[in-house]
Amino acid sequence: MPERSIGVFDSGVGGLTVLRALRQQVPDESLVYLGDTARVPYGTKSSPTVIRYAHEAARFLLAQRVKLLVVACNTASAVAVDELVQRYRVPVIGVIQPGAKRALEVTRNGRIGVVGTEGTIRSGAYDRVLRQSRTDIVVHSAACPLFVPIAEEGWSSHEVARLAAREYLAPLLDKGIDTLVLGCTHYPLLKKTLQEVVGAEVQLVDSAQETAKSVKLRLEQDRLLQSAATAQPPCYYVTDIPDRFLRVGGAFLGEELRDVKTVVLD
Ligand code: DGL
Repeated sequence: MPERSIGVFDSGVGGLTVLRALRQQVPDESLVYLGDTARVPYGTKSSPTVIRYAHEAARFLLAQRVKLLVVACNTASAVAVDELVQRYRVPVIGVIQPGAKRALEVTRNGRIGVVGTEGTIRSGAYDRVLRQSRTDIVVHSAACPLFVPIAEEGWSSHEVARLAAREYLAPLLDKGIDTLVLGCTHYPLLKKTLQEVVGAEVQLVDSAQETAKSVKLRLEQDRLLQSAATAQPPCYYVTDIPDRFLRVGGAFLGEELRDVKTVVLD
């Protein structure tokens, strides 16, 4: 089992921020990435639809014989992780639990802000996980749908990003949050702008980095860590023609993408 790859899936390019964090934190692991580019975005879709997509993605990766499944998409994690954990035999790790855990570690005043897609915020998944651990926690959330196209457009440091961030985050800052969970694959790209807008006193939680830490821990616990430095370059699959994924994905991965294959999910 340890020689097998880790499967990572997302609605599109965003999950490459998680793949990037995994490459830093478990460099000896081989990775298979699936971006469901034919059906992106998930953030505006209903829960039953996203759950169905998540099962299809999971089945595709399991057919590649992966040893562990990472649900890199926040929206899919918010609505589908519990079902995937119950249905499949490999460990399944989503991005919500790790981000929430970190937020609980860093908050001092117990007021935590969460930003994500419409679907993630509507699901209340972060609120549930945060308040399950500590009932005194107060969660203030905001859907920030414009951040996804802004990040994909390469405008993360542009005035447009700053204006959108001020508009979305003002109500959370008014509530006195001291921690802000970046609950979407795309938001780590906007980190610098978001930090400027919220000020140095507010701690940002990057769920991609936290998820990679959780994956490492789980691999160690389950004795699934690859013991030799034999990692293959990541395999990339998408469900539409790869042109846009290749063009936009480099900024998310931090390096040029190559060898992307198109597949059909069923
Ligand atoms: N990957 C999605 C997420 O993290 C953002 C893009 C989408 O809406 O599909 O929620």
